[in-house]
Amino acid sequence: MTEQDLRERMVETCLKMNSTGINQGTAGNLSVRLGDGFLITPSSLPYEKMILDDLVEMDFEGTYVGRRPSSEWRFHRDILKARPDIDVVLHCHSIYATTLACHHRQIPAFHYMVGVAGGTTIPCAEYATFGTQELSEAVLAALKGRTACLLAQHGQIAIGKTLDKTLWLATEVETLSRLYVQALPLGEPPVLSNEEMSRVIDQMQRMDYGLGPEPEGSNDIALPRG
Ligand code: 13P
Repeated sequence: MTEQDLRERMVETCLKMNSTGINQGTAGNLSVRLGDGFLITPSSLPYEKMILDDLVEMDFEGTYVGRRPSSEWRFHRDILKARPDIDVVLHCHSIYATTLACHHRQIPAFHYMVGVAGGTTIPCAEYATFGTQELSEAVLAALKGRTACLLAQHGQIAIGKTLDKTLWLATEVETLSRLYVQALPLGEPPVLSNEEMSRVIDQMQRMDYGLGPEPEGSNDIALPRG
């Protein structure tokens, strides 16, 4: 995939974040690993107005070319740096996930699909001011062994190998959050045991559960610089 193709896929994904209802306004941001750095959405630009050249190229030192990058570039950079298995970071303020996050609630194993984020819970990162290194550290701690987390009084983050799979995961986190919020008025739902959740997670990993196996080559979105 050329860098131009990657920029097109990023803009498409941002537009889907809005059209599927998991994001709105100027909330949310998206990054994809590119060579020794990454491409990231610019700050405060509605996705309907974004063109390919608006995507900002950054390196891991935090220097950039082009527009002002997302205010959350620190957690994008730190996740991509800490997790070589990950190429895509997606952040949004989807309504039900953010509703739980406003109460600092994690999502327990009330439904087997919680396993899609890699563990027995989808944790909630501690609150810290948006755009700070402190928030990035809270996010890294919450994402330990996971591919998604909530952000207290803020939103959610999903991470993955491809744009499609990461968008799918963020949408699943939102669906699970909605189910959990709807189940709560009937009482705290029972949770699946750790043993059952490890069976679920093993099964999911064996089957490449969810979006199914990637077509050949589609994981290969990182490009050498220069
Ligand atoms: P940016 O427009 O700077 O990416 O900020 C949006 C956001 O969601 C902050 O958390």
